[in-house]
Amino acid sequence: MPTIRFEGSDQSIEVGKGANLRRSLLFHGRSPHKGFEQVVNCRGLGACGTCWVEVLEGEENLSPPTKMEQLPTSPFKKIGVKGRRLSCQTRVYGDCLIRLHSE
Ligand code: FES
Repeated sequence: MPTIRFEGSDQSIEVGKGANLRRSLLFHGRSPHKGFEQVVNCRGLGACGTCWVEVLEGEENLSPPTKMEQLPTSPFKKIGVKGRRLSCQTRVYGDCLIRLHSE
């Protein structure tokens, strides 16, 4: 089972192969959303850009970026920093280390 580790934390979570990253985080009580965004977001449609995480290790173990992440009009695209992914658009196939901007 793939393991997701968190930068600056001893906590890690195990998820099923191919699990959706956003849903897995929420299930384990680690929201990728910050503040008010926890209430106001697109619920995983890839349209609001608020669920981004920074992938520090294991990017090769994640699904490739989706069209929603690459749209020029995407609010996420404006953030545009290498290693950042929309957690709602990302599936986990192996171990990774991430940084949550929400914590
Ligand atoms: S929840 Fe809105 S882009 Fe992921």
